Amino acid sequence: MKSNSIKDVTLNPETIPSHVAIIMDGNGRWAKKRLMNRVKGHEQGSKTVRTIVTACRELGIGTVTLYAFSTENWARPKHEVKALMMLLKKFIVSEKETLLKHNIQLNIIGQVYKLPEDVKKEIDITMEATRNNDKLLLNLALSYGSREEITTAVKKIAKKIELKELAPKDITQDLISNHLYTKSMPDPDLIIRTSGEYRLSNFLMWQAAYSEIYISDTLWPDFSKEELIDILKNYQERDRRFGKVACSTSSDG
Ligand code: IPE
Ligand code: IPE
Ligand code: MG
Repeated sequence: MKSNSIKDVTLNPETIPSHVAIIMDGNGRWAKKRLMNRVKGHEQGSKTVRTIVTACRELGIGTVTLYAFSTENWARPKHEVKALMMLLKKFIVSEKETLLKHNIQLNIIGQVYKLPEDVKKEIDITMEATRNNDKLLLNLALSYGSREEITTAVKKIAKKIELKELAPKDITQDLISNHLYTKSMPDPDLIIRTSGEYRLSNFLMWQAAYSEIYISDTLWPDFSKEELIDILKNYQERDRRFGKVACSTSSDG
């Protein structure tokens, strides 16, 4: 019998990552392999989003960030951008009840103001409806780019200095973190990228300083809960040293 409970998988509940971030890549190639339009790949990909969000919640992950649309993705053909925005709206509307039922909070990181009005409206409604939910924080990265995020943070800090609310000596790493879209969230413990590409593509570059990285060859529409669990097992076997020496070799004796 297949069960959804974490008790049935061999994960260590003590070291479940607090924050998992995923670069959901490979929708286009998934469609191409099937001689289908790229949009079909995005449609299938949005079904995977549902499966993986549910799995993250069941596995006790506190925050999941999904890279859904980058600042660079605006340069794709108009019809693809339009289809992606439509799918996004559809996802937010259709998932609202499930998010509420499963105690999941929706949050957006990125340039929300650049999204079409109708999408923004649905985002506002769902964010407001789910704002007290605390089982899982679902961050959708939309019109998100690390360089834009850092540039915006620098501008906000500069403005505060101009207004004499801050002095240059007040600029610390924490202050910078607190001016990013991810303020008050833990840094991602684990970043997964699907479709076998070995790059960050402008994703969480500040926050990824000590993230563990896992590249999967699976195309996003084919990504599954089972693979996520395998990746988490791999993560739990790693030695996160944060620049120090490994625990087992830390004594001088
Ligand atoms: C990821 O899949 C979805 C977005 C970037 C919006 P792609 O559309 O990048 O798929 P590939 O990389 O072309 O296969
Ligand atoms: C990264 O994928 C962005 C998202 C998954 C939303 P891309 O497909 O846009 O990245 P590149 O172009 O391969 O680097
Ligand atoms: Mg891609």
